[in-house]
Amino acid sequence: MTDYRLIYFSENRLPLGQLAAELDAILDKSRQNNVLVGVTGALMFSAGYFVQVLEGEQGAVEATFERIQQDSRHGDVQLVDFSPVAERTFSNWSMAYAGRREDASDELDAIGTKSGFDPSLLDGHQLFDKLKSRLLEAA
Ligand SMILES: Cc1cc2nc3c(=O)[nH]c(=O)nc-3n(C[C@H](O)[C@H](O)[C@H](O)COP(=O)(O)O)c2cc1C
Repeated sequence: MTDYRLIYFSENRLPLGQLAAELDAILDKSRQNNVLVGVTGALMFSAGYFVQVLEGEQGAVEATFERIQQDSRHGDVQLVDFSPVAERTFSNWSMAYAGRREDASDELDAIGTKSGFDPSLLDGHQLFDKLKSRLLEAA
């Protein structure tokens, strides 16, 4: 079965005070669900945006993304890429968190004043590289 990789970004809709706890809940739930359907990937939060990579069989990735899009904890979900891949990059993680935990509780970073990160200015390759390099930094 060919694996697919999906990349999207979205805007945070959570109040800053709830962000860190909700991020933990999202990661816990993601890991429980994704392992059951063979989906792997990575999630990052920066400057009020989520960026996520989902990898797996086409149907499993689509069903997961459908659910994620309905989630009111974020909005304005923008699909950047959904393509077949020769191999997975995040095969060891049912959902890795690509970044420092502090990012989510750092008010300046959460509202974007510090990093100035704007995913809408990056293409799929650049977003993917950003997630990969943040994951390596955090490890
Ligand atoms: C930014 C973000 C990323 C998420 N990533 C995943 C994910 O990778 N897998 C998943 O199952 N749910 C993910 N969720 C949660 C889903 O939106 C949804 O709440 C969850 O899948 C519902 O699971 P349940 O039906 O088992 O309660 C994510 C939510 C957000 C806001």
